[in-house]
Amino acid sequence: MTTVHSAPAITFVDLASQHADVEHEVEAGLRRVIDACAFINGPDVAAFESAWAAYCGRSHAAGVANGTDALELALRAVGVGAGDEVVVPTNSFIASAEAVARTGAGVRLVDCDPDFLLIDADRITESCTSRTRAVLPVHLYGQIAPMESVAAAAAASGLMVVEDAAQAHGARRYGLCVGSWGRAAGFSFYPGKNLGAYGDGGAVVTDEDEVVTALKALRDHGSLKRYEHPTLGFNSRLDTLQAVVLGAKLARLNEWNEARRRAAARYDELLDGLPGVRLPATLAGNEHVWHLYVVRVPERDRCLAALHASGVPAGIHYPTPIHLTGAFAGLGYGRGDFPVAEAAADEILSLPMHPHLTIAQQERVAEALAAALP
Ligand SMILES: Cc1ncc(COP(=O)(O)O)c(C=O)c1O
Repeated sequence: MTTVHSAPAITFVDLASQHADVEHEVEAGLRRVIDACAFINGPDVAAFESAWAAYCGRSHAAGVANGTDALELALRAVGVGAGDEVVVPTNSFIASAEAVARTGAGVRLVDCDPDFLLIDADRITESCTSRTRAVLPVHLYGQIAPMESVAAAAAASGLMVVEDAAQAHGARRYGLCVGSWGRAAGFSFYPGKNLGAYGDGGAVVTDEDEVVTALKALRDHGSLKRYEHPTLGFNSRLDTLQAVVLGAKLARLNEWNEARRRAAARYDELLDGLPGVRLPATLAGNEHVWHLYVVRVPERDRCLAALHASGVPAGIHYPTPIHLTGAFAGLGYGRGDFPVAEAAADEILSLPMHPHLTIAQQERVAEALAAALP
């Protein structure tokens, strides 16, 4: 009888290999928390917050329960609420707009640029009304939005900036770390993110003492001192067990982001010249962290089905721009309002991307994509 050796399956992300890199630190840390029964706001939360603030080059970080809460509480902490409006790019995960809506503020959507699919800063000013108070640029797919233009538009229209950094842990722009432009920036530590927990988690970074103080009250029932509740808040604390995982993984983040950059460069080479395929571009000045490697292809849905049939787990981020979702139908936007995002939504295809992707796996992805094209 002959033994058939099949190649290991390609996964979209590889959380098992990431865990193997940090297994010992994580297991020792979890054991420490369990032994101490320090489950809520234990010392590991404060230790991770200090480490995350230092990594981002900001004065403060506050852990929260997830990335959506991070954005909502960051907006609330800078004073956004009912009666205000916030500008959000329509080409993002729905949580960017959902966080705004949950503060009670209105959502003003804008299109993206055709090359990088990031917020089109030229559209910010025209989208504002007298009630617009802030803009929420999204550092989509792992690269920073064009923040000089966003900041200029914000200054011209009197807007605050709060960054959606959920996909860009460690990304830099002209040397500045993500989170350097806004009054606050919100991160998600959803497991598949560049820095991911073993469940939900999130954080806000800021340089402002008042903002972090407001945030710490908001995340803990409006309280900074036990059983004193001068304001209403939420229960949105970062779980201590997740803080242990994040602390262990943070030590690897630069190395993993570097591995993602190598994988992206390999895809660039392997896919170069494939007919009709548009490769992802990096905005000048950006150090990309490749949360996602997003190509654009003709007949995307057929191509995606063919990839899946050949064992390549590709995805779409995101199939429906926010203005066309049922959740935001009430905003009154319709098809044709944001043509760049709408055209992109029909073409985008995210290929497997994670720090442990091997050359052999990437070659298989490239072959499968070549075969899947019309
Ligand atoms: C751009 C963006 N913003 C916000 C979020 C929300 O983060 P979470 O899923 O942790 O609530 C995500 C997560 O997927 C995201 O990709």
